[in-house]
Amino acid sequence: MALVTSTEMFKKAYEGGYAIGAFNVNNMEIVQGITEACKEEKAPVILQVSKGARAYANHTYLVKLVEAAVIECPEIPVVLHLDHGPDFETCKSCIDGGFTSVMIDGSSKSFEDNIALTKQVVEYAHAHGVVVEGELGTLAGIEDEVKVSAEDSSYTRPEEVEEFVSRTGVDSLAIAIGTSHGAYKFKPGTKPQLRFDILEEVSRRLPGFPIVLHGSSSVPQNYVEMINANGGKMPGAIGVPEEQLRKAASLSVCKINIDSDLRLAMTGTIRQFFNEHPDKFDPREYLKPARANIKELVRHKLVDVLGCAGKA
Ligand code: G3H
Ligand code: 13P
Ligand code: ZN
Repeated sequence: MALVTSTEMFKKAYEGGYAIGAFNVNNMEIVQGITEACKEEKAPVILQVSKGARAYANHTYLVKLVEAAVIECPEIPVVLHLDHGPDFETCKSCIDGGFTSVMIDGSSKSFEDNIALTKQVVEYAHAHGVVVEGELGTLAGIEDEVKVSAEDSSYTRPEEVEEFVSRTGVDSLAIAIGTSHGAYKFKPGTKPQLRFDILEEVSRRLPGFPIVLHGSSSVPQNYVEMINANGGKMPGAIGVPEEQLRKAASLSVCKINIDSDLRLAMTGTIRQFFNEHPDKFDPREYLKPARANIKELVRHKLVDVLGCAGKA
């Protein structure tokens, strides 16, 4: 199957009460780990590329890696998505350069400026057969170089969503209900809790419309412990409880973004490898177990959290 847009995927996910995993890709091993798990579990998948990923690996390399995965996994639908598009030009470059989906992140702008920018991207994207994700509400954490403090973050205001969607024409909407980017999402000792009341009110106002959750890594404690036991220092790293993501997936959330968990699996595995094998220096030897652990982590998400295994 060639690259597809997320339209059909989201429709089925909404009706089926599950979500599609949107995993960030930055290099070959990450693309392979994710797509091998999706192929084996027969799961549709969104591979997403941030501005930082394009700066690191180069647009063409990333597109070609994803195209290679599509050839290797012909039985599953794959979306190539721009994560957190910062401006019209970046979105246009991805639309012109083979992406099937883009996010325009105008969440830090005023409501009117967010609408104007999102509408401009939607018009160009739709004219080229590409779908668009917009965002209302601000998540805490770090995206590319931008750090948003917990005080400056804000939940999505449900009373704004209908106007935003109808005036922009976006195909999906990312909302802020208490998730945040990175590995430190909740203060140690506090109870992590997403605002399902906001999600439910948004869904009531936008029936049948696909909702997106960013900042949805669960920060697996086995990898945090592996990192800390092998020279790392990540005290108090806490993520979103997986039961809450499962519940969101059963409601109107059709896309769940996961990046930090992949980073933790890769970093923990490599740290442990070097600690156990200080004499080794062949990158293939430490990237191979890192890729294998990414694959098992993604398999777990598909089967136990997102509910999209077997839905390809
Ligand atoms: O939301 C941000 C994603 O985790 C991508 O992170 O900007 O460091 O590539 P990045
Ligand atoms: P995490 O940092 O929770 O993995 O979030 C990733 C994300 O939202 C990418 O857009
Ligand atoms: Zn994000």
